[in-house]
Amino acid sequence: MKLNRRAALRNLLSLVAGSPLLAAAQSPPPGFPDKKGGTWFPPAYPEDVMGPVNLHEFEPIAQQKLHKLAYDFIAGGVEDEVTLRANRESIEKVRLVPRVMVDVSTVDPSVELLGRKLDYPILLSPTGGKNLVLPDADMICARAAAQTKTIYGVAGAPVDKLADEGLELTFWRNTTGHDTRERAQGYARRCEDDGAHAILVTVDNQYQSNRERNNRNRFDYGYMSTGVPGESERREPRSPAVAAMWRPHTPNMTWDYIEWLKSASDLPVIIKGILSPEDAALAVERGADAVVVSNHGARQLDSVVATIDALPGVVDAVGGKIPVLMDGGVRRGTDVIKALAIGARAVLIGRPYVWGLASFGQVGVQRVIELLRAEFALSLALAGKPNVASLDRSLIKNMPK
Ligand SMILES: Cc1cc2nc3c(=O)[nH]c(=O)nc-3n(C[C@H](O)[C@H](O)[C@H](O)COP(=O)(O)O)c2cc1C
Repeated sequence: MKLNRRAALRNLLSLVAGSPLLAAAQSPPPGFPDKKGGTWFPPAYPEDVMGPVNLHEFEPIAQQKLHKLAYDFIAGGVEDEVTLRANRESIEKVRLVPRVMVDVSTVDPSVELLGRKLDYPILLSPTGGKNLVLPDADMICARAAAQTKTIYGVAGAPVDKLADEGLELTFWRNTTGHDTRERAQGYARRCEDDGAHAILVTVDNQYQSNRERNNRNRFDYGYMSTGVPGESERREPRSPAVAAMWRPHTPNMTWDYIEWLKSASDLPVIIKGILSPEDAALAVERGADAVVVSNHGARQLDSVVATIDALPGVVDAVGGKIPVLMDGGVRRGTDVIKALAIGARAVLIGRPYVWGLASFGQVGVQRVIELLRAEFALSLALAGKPNVASLDRSLIKNMPK
């Protein structure tokens, strides 16, 4: 029987409809529960939460809701905020060269990190002082992290208690150090006892930095735990930020600290705040299990190198011996593929999830994570990369130097 073109096309379509190729294309991307008319939709939240269409758009909403003291504390960098701008500018300068005619009908954004499979490589960096936003903010963010199955970096909040709520959270305890071996070892044991999955050591916080927005606001660093006081209860700040102050945190911390932690627990130790290839090599030598290329969100020493610019040197120095992560200015799915193509295993975000929290509470944090995760998966597909393993430096036109 001779088929006309229309009948042949109909036959072909019915064949394709039953093919495994289409079945694969119909499996939902991670975290996308709803399918309507051939399109997968992310989880839906109330209308106002669905308002911002990207991470940038949470900040002005948060700003409207926050006290100026709190907004400036979160948004600010240090001194002239050179590095704050550079973190974004440098990421934006990196250009991609996508590949085409690659089958991206399924995309796998998962990665393996320190023996764990992550559905996607976007984590939450530790951010102290969120009680300026909401009481119990760390617990709220931890719930959001558990719901979205990401890792939460946190200092002291009792996030291990989330298990009582039936929530499973992977969390890394964050410390800026201890001044003696005994204290360091006691801390490491406590982290292990309360179920932390790693110790995240911030190494760039030797002194309180010169954050001029805080200085101008006569910001009391005590507010980081007590929250912004109401006008009626406003007292003289106990530790007001003032220009040119000199306040030590952990100025005596050296590489021995890593050995102190490692001798007291089996937890992986991750070093956050590496910018120099020499320090990256030392971190490997001294037993670190991972490093985070970070400039503390441009909040410590101003004019330091943007993190995406520091990343290639650190990746090369580490030479694949331990995973390298990066934070600072990550706002877009394309930012994530840039970092991963250069050699990062995962990225972390700071301010964006705090803006999500300030804007809409727990669901705001979740929405921020879900938007970035969706952008990342889509960016992989449009770059012609069906999975994270297929990302490499050939995707980058102008490698940061
Ligand atoms: C409000 C705020 C508080 C922070 N507190 C800490 C902290 O306690 N420990 C730490 O290692 N980093 C801290 N950081 C830095 C973040 O962990 C992270 O490195 C940085 O925010 C990433 O840059 P991004 O905000 O551009 O995403 C803080 C950042 C912010 C914005």
